[in-house]
Parts: sequence; C-alpha cells; structure tokens
Amino acid sequence: MESARGMTTVETARLVTMDKIAALCKRRGFVFPGSDIYGGLANTWDYGPLGVELKRNVKEHWWRTFVHRRRDIVGLDAGILMHPRVWEASGHVAGFNDPLVDCRTCRSRFRADHLIEERLGLQVEGKTPTEMSRLLQENGVKCPVCGNATLTDARQFNMMFSTTIGPLAETGVEVYLRPETAQAMFVQFKNIVSTGRVKVPFGIAQIGKVFRNEITPGNFIFRLLEFEQMEIEFFVKPDEAAETFEVWLSAMWEWLRSIGIGEQFLRVREHDADELSHYSSRTIDFEYLFPGSMGWRELYGLANRTDFDLAQHQAFSGEDLHYFDQGENRKYLPYVIEPTFGVDRTCLILLIDAYDEEETIDVNGKPDIRVVLRLHPRVAPFKAAVLPLMKKPELAEPAQELYQTLSDETGVLLDYDETGNIGKRYRRQDEIGTPFCITVDFDTIDDHCVTVRHRDDMSQERIAIADVSSWLREQIV
Ligand code: GAP
Repeated sequence: MESARGMTTVETARLVTMDKIAALCKRRGFVFPGSDIYGGLANTWDYGPLGVELKRNVKEHWWRTFVHRRRDIVGLDAGILMHPRVWEASGHVAGFNDPLVDCRTCRSRFRADHLIEERLGLQVEGKTPTEMSRLLQENGVKCPVCGNATLTDARQFNMMFSTTIGPLAETGVEVYLRPETAQAMFVQFKNIVSTGRVKVPFGIAQIGKVFRNEITPGNFIFRLLEFEQMEIEFFVKPDEAAETFEVWLSAMWEWLRSIGIGEQFLRVREHDADELSHYSSRTIDFEYLFPGSMGWRELYGLANRTDFDLAQHQAFSGEDLHYFDQGENRKYLPYVIEPTFGVDRTCLILLIDAYDEEETIDVNGKPDIRVVLRLHPRVAPFKAAVLPLMKKPELAEPAQELYQTLSDETGVLLDYDETGNIGKRYRRQDEIGTPFCITVDFDTIDDHCVTVRHRDDMSQERIAIADVSSWLREQIV
C-alpha cells in the first residue's frame, strides 16, 4: 500500500539507504566524489575500478540484447557536438528549461517543481512558472536552507551547456553539448536508410554521454550534470505506432528482469496529457522505489514521438526525410517509438536492489553482519575470485595457473586475492558482489579439485579443476 510520501510497507522493511550505498561505493571503489582531493565538484562523480566494470557490463548486455541479438536495430556513435540548428529544430533551445527559484537571503537555488512536490505533495508537471510561483506564495513555502520567506518567483533556465568552437569567444560559434543522444539518430536517419540495410520497421540505437545543467539536491548518482543514456529510436509505419509501443513496454520489462531487478520496487506510470513533452503523444515512465525519502522516481521512459522530430529536421534542414516504402509503394514520415534508459540510474538501482545485510557469525564465533551485494552474475564486476587458502608457494602456484586458465578460457573478469584470512576475503567478495569464490587448498594438490563457494547462500561444492571453466561459463550467460 502506498502512503502519501510515496513509500510502501515494503519500503519500511528495507535495510538499504542511499548513505549506505554511497559509503560502500566509496569504500570499495565503485564510485568516488568527482575532483575529490580538491574538495569535490557538486553533483559530479567518478566511476572507480569496480564501478567502471559494472557500468560496462550494463552497456554491453544492453547492446547485445537490443543490437546484436536483433536484426532490426543498428548502432550509431555520433558526436557530442552537433550543428546548433539541431537544437532549435528539436525544441531544446526554446523549451528545455527548468523552473528555478532563488533565495534572496542565502542565495541558494532550487527547482520550483521539486520544492512544490516535496513541501506541498503536489504534482506540477505542465504548470507555468507563474502558476508555480503562486502555489509557493499562497502556501508560504520558505527557503529549505535558511528558513526565510524570501524565495523569488520561478523563472525558466535553459538546461543545455554551451561552449564555443574557435579560438576566440567573440568570433567563435556557440554550440551545445548534447542533452540527449536521440537527436543524432533523427539527423542521421537519411544516411542510415540510404546505406540500404534497413527497412521500416527498424531501430537505431546509441549509447553515450549527455550533459544537463541540473540543479540537484544530492541523491548520489541519481541526477547528474553529465551522464550516459542508452536510447533506441524505433521507426514504424504511422498506423503501427500504438501496437509497437506495447511491444516495447514488454521488452523494457524483460530487460529489467534480465539484469535481476525485483518487480516489487518497480512500477509504470502513464503521463497525463498536460505532462507530456512537446514531442510526445504518449509517455510511460518506469519508476523505481528508491530508499528513504526519495520514494518513487523515474528510472526509464518510453515515448511515442510521432513524426515530430523527422518533420522538424526536415523543415529546419531543407532535406526530404520521407521514407519510401517499397512494399506499399508510398512515401511517409515514419513514427518513432523511443525507449530510453539511463545508464547511471541502472547502476544505482542495481546496487540498491542487490544490497543486503545478514546476521551471521564471524570467524571467532561472534555475532556479525554480513553485507552482500546480490548482483546478477551478468552485471557483477568480477564473475569469480580465485583465492589460495593461504599465502604459501605450493598453493599460490596452482591458484595463479588456475586464474590464468580461467581468464583465457572464459574471457570474463576475475579477481585474485591471497592476502588476509580466508573469512575476510570471502566477506570482501560478498560486499562487491562476486558470485563465486574458487578456493585452492592443500587437498587441491592431490585431488585436482577446488572448493567453489556461492555468494548468496555461502554453500560450498567441490569441482574438478578441469571442469571449472565450463561450469563458470554456464553460470554467467
Ligand atoms: N530522449 C529522451 C530523453 O532524454 P529523459 O526522460 O529526459 O528523456 C532519459 O531522459 C533517461 O535519462 C531518464 O529516464 C533517466 O534514466 C536518465 N536521466 C535523465 N536525466 C538524468 C540526470 N540528470 N542524471 C542521470 N540520469 C538522467
């Protein structure tokens, strides 16, 4: 059951908090605050050695699922800088704005819509800055930082970052850092069709960095200035758009299942008519129940963009972007169904969803808490860790040999760790989500078997060294 603040009874039972996730990420090298030794730069984060592997696994699995395993979607890797007219055609120059309010006393800046949602519990998508200012004033909303009733009226700020091409600012050309990957897929539509390998219905997929000048209240890597998107623009006959939308809705659910996200913390939310983006005739958000006060927030989106973008780029560029359908012997502007996935939000929910604490007994027989990331093996940074039981040459030698053989034969990333007691090493692997620990012990020398320990239930089994590669491959497909 949902309460007014968007939390559920399921939520109250969760052990995970955003602070625990951020602390684990820093402690274990998933995500560090950006420019850390300079005191940080607000809302910038760097992926460390384990985070970068998690993120790569997400992107590679997505590309394999939607591009390599399908014959109707092709890839694109476009530039971050595009012709400035692109952003006029797309509507971003005129309309990609955030309504912001400032505090006249302490000079803090806030998103007016977020302030209203948090303080008054009202949804304000689609409302004008004047309507939002009236709501703030009528309800006496004060500055959340200094507590004074000195908030300005809401004003629109464009969220695109700009830069200048050319050595001199006065003579250079102002260009924008792309705020979404989508537009390049419309701009290159004609080139991709004319290379002759695609026929409607087909999609173009792209993964890449995008930039938005966001005002954000923290929440770790949820809302960033610089983040990655995985997007598909799927071009269809106009009268097949509604049906294709439903197909993509199922495909997005299936994707979430394939990375192991539990459905109890997921829901879909249909946008009301006054909330729809200017390009969309129908939008559904996938929402995830984030821990604590964050509650339900957008994870992914699915939109019917109609022929808005192709029509706009046709008008602004002067190029004919109609598609000639040979089967029907007619020309039309295809409609576009757009499933969009944030890479960073995917990493964040994977960590949150996987986080668990278990009461257990430590090596000295004392009560202890085991922190375990129950990541799906597909996305876990290390698929297995090879551990000699002790740091002794007679164990290190076969362990290193096994590590090398497994690495060559499976092609996956493995960890190797010989320092500290075995119990502590198991715990470290549990905390970074490694599904299997493969221990080489003194019996290995005689029986050529190793002990495989399973992360989730800590059960152990003995497997012949000769079978470990094929066994591991089966576990991680
Ligand atoms: N092409 C459509 C589009 O860009 P969007 O809802 O603005 O739609 C798509 O963004 C996805 O990008 C979101 O569902 C979310 O996963 C991610 N996203 C958006 N803004 C973000 C931000 N500031 N930080 C991190 N991820 C963000």
